[in-house]
This record gives sequence, structure tokens and C-alpha cells, in this order.
Amino acid sequence: MAGQNSAAISSLLTGALDLKSVGVFLLIFLVVLRFFRDRQKNLPPGPWRWPLLGNIPALARSTKLIHELFAEWGWQYGGVMSVGLSPGRSPITVISDIDAAKELLLNKGERLLDRAPVPSLSTVTGTKGSFLWADGETGKEQRHFGLGAFRKLGVGKKSLEHKITEEARYLVERIENEKNRSFDPNLIIHNAVSNIICTVCFGYRFDYDDPNFKKLVRSLQYILHTTGVGSLANIFPVLLLTPLYSKVQGCLRYIRERINGIVQEHRDSYDPNDYRDFIDMYIGEIDETERKGAAGDATFAYQHIWRAIFDMFAAGTDTTSNTILWVIAAVLNHPEVQEKIQREISEVVGGDRQPSCEDRPSMPYTNAVLNEIQRLRPVAASALPYKATREIKLRGYTIPKGGPVFFALWAMMNDPRVWDRPEEFNPDRFLSKDGTKLIQHERFIPFSIGRRSCLGEGLARMEMFLFVTNLFQRFTFKLPLGAPKPSMRGVPSFTYVPEPFDVCAVKR
Ligand code: HEM
Repeated sequence: MAGQNSAAISSLLTGALDLKSVGVFLLIFLVVLRFFRDRQKNLPPGPWRWPLLGNIPALARSTKLIHELFAEWGWQYGGVMSVGLSPGRSPITVISDIDAAKELLLNKGERLLDRAPVPSLSTVTGTKGSFLWADGETGKEQRHFGLGAFRKLGVGKKSLEHKITEEARYLVERIENEKNRSFDPNLIIHNAVSNIICTVCFGYRFDYDDPNFKKLVRSLQYILHTTGVGSLANIFPVLLLTPLYSKVQGCLRYIRERINGIVQEHRDSYDPNDYRDFIDMYIGEIDETERKGAAGDATFAYQHIWRAIFDMFAAGTDTTSNTILWVIAAVLNHPEVQEKIQREISEVVGGDRQPSCEDRPSMPYTNAVLNEIQRLRPVAASALPYKATREIKLRGYTIPKGGPVFFALWAMMNDPRVWDRPEEFNPDRFLSKDGTKLIQHERFIPFSIGRRSCLGEGLARMEMFLFVTNLFQRFTFKLPLGAPKPSMRGVPSFTYVPEPFDVCAVKR
């Protein structure tokens, strides 16, 4: 009996050992295969990748945020590297060197007209109608329309400036109601900024206490906070269909229904001779498409309109508001910067009138602070992912046709070879020696560059300047008694956003 048992155990052990050997052999085989495949494909170098899992284990182990890890690896591999982020799929090319980025986006831009899908935001909702995710010719058509519509609606001109200064008054009033008490500025700032893109798209603003508006903004924040590039949803997209992500689906559904409702209101009162806003213009474009007899799946169609407006709402809300929140977090850490901004406001604007865009050229220090925060804490830590439309040769390597390309903007604007002590918040780096002139830094690219750079750059710059100057004209931001300084680290999200913090706004 004992003999039988030991024979059974030994055969089990041999089986397990055999299984282990097969596993080890398979692993070595896959590693060698991958090595030769990469050599054959001539991909850029990069950190060691596991078969199937690529660099996911390193990402999971690291305490760094994904853009910090990309920067660290990128600098190590010369600014052009391959990283594996999706199980079983080809690696992505990550560009963290500004010269390589310029070569690709400015000189080879016609090979980078497509977007690589980010499952959480593009696959789930589709890309038809999307300004952010549309590919090639469709993307061009959308962009052409978007830029034209912005121009006709006065974006970047006086008419919209008046709307922003009016919104800044509502914001100041709302903050005054806090009566020096400590509060979380997150939702208030988001509401104010969002109201500008709502005015452009919907033709009206919302009251800050409107529960539907609050839900709209909160839903957007929830979606973006759970669907960052390195999030589980994007690494294992199948999870998006599980209960783990049912809240994201619910938020998306809510936003889609709200936007569709607003579109219907527009259709009911639409006048082709009097375009009131972006939605009216989009309806005009759909009518034109239908008149030309285009098929039902054309770029401009009623079934896609919500997607277009969702992109504008998302891109126009989250980015600018978080930049303003980063500014407040930064001055709580550096009160001397706040004093200098306020001194400049007092000298140039005074206290009797609201700041206007005409003051902008006379306020180098405030502009330098805005630049510096966008360099140090760019809300778009990387550009939206691109996909190579055709094969691209770069620095002797090959980016294959269809291969995803990431531009790591944070890494470029925090590269110690380019920026002196990049980790320091130092607005003076954007000023001439005597502090009187703003210096244009050609390696400062928070809105990205090239054919698919930010469509809302002009609007964002105007909003940041007007909201920030209005806020600092009326208030001094202080730490609540006993509260720690806000962290400047940030949290993972689709955009790079500050951790929640409280503040006291003391009336000046
Ligand atoms: C501080 C504020 C903002 C920053 C830092 C920012 C930055 C960016 C970046 C880096 C991109 C990706 C460009 C690329 O992939 O190369 C982008 C794309 C885009 N942004 Fe912004 N953005 C801001 C505000 C806005 C605003 C206010 C709007 C207007 C509604 C807007 C609309 C868009 C659109 C539509 C795209 C897609 C362009 C395309 O794919 O052709 N952004 N933005």
C-alpha cells in the first residue's frame, strides 16, 4: 500500500514538474519569439515586456502615475520607445522627446491623421460624430466644421469674452456666499467653466444649483476619473461590459439622454436663418448633408449629434477647470506667487472694473503663472492617442501602419535636459530677466501641435486668463486653519487633475 502511494506521489510530482517545465519552455519560447519579431519589425526599444502582458506588471507594481513612468522610461530609451499596454496586442510607440514629436506631428503629420481607440471612451460610445476620435477624412471634415462654427459663434472674440466675464461675476458671487468659510472649489469651478461651453453649444448657461446641471458635470467627472489611459477598463476592455463599470455606463446614458433632449428642443424651434449656437449649426450641417442625398451613416447625422456635443462638453469642461484648480493649489503652496499676481492686477486693472482680454499683454506675470502651471501640471499629460495612417520611419526605427502612437506631453515639458529644475514651480522661467516680458518657449506645448492639436486652444486661453484674474482680483485664497497644503501630485484620471482640497476665499 505504502509502495503504491509513493509511486502515485512520485508520478504526480513528475507530472507537475513536467507541467512546470512546459510552462518555462513556453515562456522562453514566447520571449525569444517576441525578441525576433521586434527585431524584424524594427520597433523602437523599450522596457522589457512580458509575453502577452507586456508592461502591465510593471505598471501595476509601480507607485508612479502612468505619465511619470512613461517619462522615466522614455528618457532612458532616448525619447522614442515601445511599451506594451494591452494584453496580446502590439506595443504602442511613446514619444517623450520634443524634437521627435515635432518631426512627427509637424513634418509627418499626414501620416498621423487617425486616432487609436481608447476603449473606455471611443469603443463604447462609437466614434461617429466624435471630434476627438474621428479618423482621417472624417476627422478633417469634423475639425473644419468645428473651427468654422467656433469662428462664426465669436469664440475668441469680444462677444464671447462678454459671456466669460459675466460668468466670472456669477462665480465671484457664488464664492462670496461661502463667507470666508472653507469649501471645496472643485464643483463650483467646473460649473462656471462648463457654462461657457454650454453657452456655445446649447445657447444658454445653467444655474449652479440646478440639480440636472450638477448631475451632468458630476457624471462627466465620474466617467473621466474611472477611464484613464492606464485604467483597468482600457487594459482589459471586456470589464466595461461587467457590473464593475455599470456606473460609467449609467453616467454615459444620462449625458446622452440630456444632450439628446437639448438637441430635440433645438429641432423644435430651429430656424435655418438664425443660428443661435453650435447645435443649430450642426443641425444646419445635417440638413445640408441630407439635401446632398448622403447615406444615413454620414458624418453629420442626427444619430451622431449627441457624440459631437458630448466631446465639446467634455473637452471644454474638464481641461480648463482643472487647470484653474491647479493654479489655486499652486498658490496655496506658494503664497508669494499669489501676491505677485494680485499686485499686477492692482497695477493694470485696479479694483473698479473687471479684467478684460485687452489687459492680457500688459500682465506678463499672470501669463507666466498660467504657462508654468500648464507646463508643470498639464491636464493633458499626453495628447490623445494617434494611430499611424501609414508606416512611419523615425530615427531609424519603424512605426508600423496602424500602430498606436502616444505623445507624452508631461515628459516633454518636464524633461530635465530641456528645463532647468523642471520639478520646481517657477513662473519666472517664462519671463525676461527684468520680469517685464513673457518669453515664448517653443518647447512648451500643453495644447499639442500639428493638424490635430487642441481645437479649443483660443477659448481655453481666454477662459483661463479671465477666470483667474477675476478670482484673484476679488479674493485671496488661503489654507483653512490647520489644513495641510494641497498636494501637487495629482490623481490618475483621463485628464491629470489635482487631489481634492479645501480652501478659504477671503474677500479683498
Ligand atoms: C486648458 C485647457 C485645454 C487643454 C490643455 C487642452 C489640450 C488638448 C490636447 C493636448 C489635445 C490633444 C491634441 C493631440 O492629440 O495632439 C486636445 C484636443 C482637443 N481639444 Fe483641447 N484642451 C483644452 C481645452 C479645450 C477646450 C476649451 C475645448 C473646446 C471645446 C477643447 C477641444 C478640443 C478638441 C475638439 C480636441 C480634438 C482635436 C482633434 O482631434 O482634432 N479643448 N486638447
